[in-house]
Amino acid sequence: MSRLFTKDTQAIFWNNNKTAIQRMLDYDYTIGRDKPSVAAIVAPTSNNKFEKFFYGPDEIMVPLYKSTADAKAAQPQADVLLNFASFRTAYDVTMEALEIGGFKSIMITAEGIPERLARTMNQAARDAGVTVIGPATVGAIAPGAFKIANIGGTIDNIINSKLHRAGSCGLVTRSGGLFNELSNIIAINADGIAEGVAIGGDRFVGSVFIDNLLRMESNPDVKYMILLGEVGGTEEYKVIEAVKDGRIKKPIIAWCIGTIAKHFSSGVQFGHAGASANAERETAEAKNKAMAEAGIHVPASFNDLPATIREVYEELRANGTIQEIPEPELKTIPKTRRSKQFICTISDDRGEEATYAGFPISSVATPDTGKGIGDVISLLWFKKQYPKWATEFIETVIKTVADHGPAVSGAHNAKVTARAGKSVVESLVTGLLTIGPRFGGAIDGAAKYFKYADDNNLTPAEFLSYMKKQGVPIPGIGHRIKSLKNPDLRVEGLKKFAAEHFPSTPLLDYALTVEQLTTSKKENLILNVDGTIGILMVDMWRALGYPEDEIDEFIESGTLNAFFIVGRSIGFIGHILDEKRLAMPMYRHPMDDILYDVQEAEEL
Ligand code: ACO
Ligand code: LMR
Repeated sequence: MSRLFTKDTQAIFWNNNKTAIQRMLDYDYTIGRDKPSVAAIVAPTSNNKFEKFFYGPDEIMVPLYKSTADAKAAQPQADVLLNFASFRTAYDVTMEALEIGGFKSIMITAEGIPERLARTMNQAARDAGVTVIGPATVGAIAPGAFKIANIGGTIDNIINSKLHRAGSCGLVTRSGGLFNELSNIIAINADGIAEGVAIGGDRFVGSVFIDNLLRMESNPDVKYMILLGEVGGTEEYKVIEAVKDGRIKKPIIAWCIGTIAKHFSSGVQFGHAGASANAERETAEAKNKAMAEAGIHVPASFNDLPATIREVYEELRANGTIQEIPEPELKTIPKTRRSKQFICTISDDRGEEATYAGFPISSVATPDTGKGIGDVISLLWFKKQYPKWATEFIETVIKTVADHGPAVSGAHNAKVTARAGKSVVESLVTGLLTIGPRFGGAIDGAAKYFKYADDNNLTPAEFLSYMKKQGVPIPGIGHRIKSLKNPDLRVEGLKKFAAEHFPSTPLLDYALTVEQLTTSKKENLILNVDGTIGILMVDMWRALGYPEDEIDEFIESGTLNAFFIVGRSIGFIGHILDEKRLAMPMYRHPMDDILYDVQEAEEL
């Protein structure tokens, strides 16, 4: 891996840290990335499915997942984990990500992870070939390609520090604050940076100076490197060795902060956990001296660092190593942005012609398109193009349930309402409101319970006793007038369609074994039309390759009953228009058909 990040790099962001994520997306938009740099967010305690963010003037939805495993499974291309968990959780999050695999780098922001755990975690990452940035860091940046969270600060600061496009310097610091400071100095005295990493201030960090400098040595964008170390530790000596043995050939400019420590009588702990010298070798002075002796460009003081940078840069310009970098055009983020109140993911009427899931209405509406109402439903309800056998099944269902005569609950209600002088819509709604667990609305329930029974390998007898314990009749079983002797031919039709066109019907096969048992108890306890539809829809979705959780979501959200609602609306409207044509007077139920049993109310 010669480059830490590219313009295609995408990350999974652990923790819904909205400000930091928005900063990443603002950066992406400004530099003209095609894809947002954050592909997913892990938010274990959220029940939301996505979070809205601005992408330039518009908004995008970044999916939320409850676990890193779910996020990685859904976004396998995202190979950076931005671990923004607290110091209590960061270790577990990193170890889990290493176990899941597929991450090239993991950035850990938390400060104060217990050192024993940090060492275990860093070693595990090293063994897995994963670059860890941090702990206790603001991250890293590949200007013009990918930026982690808050590194570089605001967009204005980023542009001032030339962090919007790749320059020539490879920068490695411990501190994040000094990273920003140095980026600015490099922008003023040279042409900016090609890759920068703040490795973090804890005593035990994952990738150390040498790891990053060796990668930068092999990164063709990096022409020279700057190392900003600090008092404490001996990592700088590994860099000296690499320079001496020729593994690093590109010029390095280096400075260790903390030379002031020698003016104090005892050892001084600077801001970072790692910033204190335990031996002479670890002092900033000793390290600066050793680096200078190895041929690294070490200024006389921190104040002289800008001049040294300018000198090295000018020399590389003069010998042709560094060329002029063209300034890219940047996109501007509007000063005011308004968050949208509604989201629509199914249709769009902004163009010349409105679309159903991306298809112009004219491409599905007329007979010459070869598309039917099943195609329209598959586009508008499921945002997918279903194969012919599936759209024809949907149409078969709708046609099958369109009406079942005037006597059924819903049609009766619609007729009574129409006769009370109400409009088509009012009468229709009355009929629709009748659809529920006993009439026409058992489709979701049938899918849910039969799927549960089959998933859990319940025998029909076990399923019956399970439902008895639940205290509900089995949805999709039983009919008022249909029975073994008077079979429901709609059910026969649907079963025949499935046998001829479905790749397989495992749930229906299971349901028929249940029906054998229920009809052996009572012959009207057949698999009814609701049950057959619900069960076959599950078989259809499984055959179409839907994952189980998506099928469960369809069932939970009432999608299946919606097929009955659409179909039966046709019949209800027919009955309502029939009443209107016949100009029938208001209906009053015959009193002799009512059992009156009214007692005088007791006084309490
Ligand atoms: N599961 C288990 N036992 C049942 C079921 C069932 N789904 N339905 C009825 N039974 C049993 C009852 O417990 C009762 O048993 P019992 O005689 O030992 O006490 C017996 O069958 C008769 O019960 P009723 O409620 O009188 O049966 P009815 O014929 O009136 O019920 C109904 C028809 C309402 C459809 C009923 O079977 C039911 O609730 N089924 C589940 C809901 C359903 O699928 N509805 C959709 C029907 S199709 C449509 O509307 C388009
Ligand atoms: C229907 O489709 O409405 C029927 O199955 C219900 C009934 O009572 O006949």
